[in-house]
Amino acid sequence: MLSFIVFLTTVLFAADKKVLIVYLSQTGETEKTANQLKESLSKVTENGIESTLVSLDCHTEDETAFKKIALYAKSAFRAATAVCTKPTENPSDYDAVIVGGPVWWWTMPKQEQNVLGEMDFSAVKDHVFTFATAGGKTPGSFHNAFTTATGITPSGTFLARNGVDVTDEIAQFAKKIGQNLGVVAADPVPEPEPVVEQESVPEPPVVENKEEI
Ligand SMILES: Cc1cc2nc3c(=O)[nH]c(=O)nc-3n(C[C@H](O)[C@H](O)[C@H](O)COP(=O)(O)O)c2cc1C
Repeated sequence: MLSFIVFLTTVLFAADKKVLIVYLSQTGETEKTANQLKESLSKVTENGIESTLVSLDCHTEDETAFKKIALYAKSAFRAATAVCTKPTENPSDYDAVIVGGPVWWWTMPKQEQNVLGEMDFSAVKDHVFTFATAGGKTPGSFHNAFTTATGITPSGTFLARNGVDVTDEIAQFAKKIGQNLGVVAADPVPEPEPVVEQESVPEPPVVENKEEI
């Protein structure tokens, strides 16, 4: 009886789909966006889409050199020298994968590209999304770099600019993911404008030019 109740509860309250969100975040911006996305996905359907957040484990090997450099250069130093470890999670255990990261020097961090290149996305190739966070207005070649690293073109992309409230855009992105997974209804196709018959304009009477006398 107990196992039946557990079964029933699992079936009734199970999330609609499972999504893996893999991201790199050095100063917390991408992490914040990843958390907002997780929250939005949980509300996109009645049962919600369940997401697993995986922060890439990246570290600078030369800590002695790191301590010596000026404060303003620390971020760039870490970015240049960090090495990331491939996560243990497997994309094929999920219905979709979302990859996020900061824009570094107009593209996706090289070490993130390296790790993603080692992962196998083939099982979810039509359900992969990417998002970037940036100080500026453009993701540069962030999303293309993902394609170059993995051979997969994302089904949707998103950019969160530092200091800009993108709550609505994230909700839209989550909805798009739900639609891609078939758990959110597609947007209705707008009705075509009715064709209004043009009233025929009567031809103007041809007035013979009277020769001037
Ligand atoms: C080394 C480095 C390079 C950056 N290059 C760019 C860039 O080319 N374009 C841009 O818009 N922002 C750039 N930024 C800003 C970051 O993209 C932005 O602050 C991002 O949201 C940081 O994400 P995080 O807090 O998750 O690490 C750079 C930051 C660092 C540390």
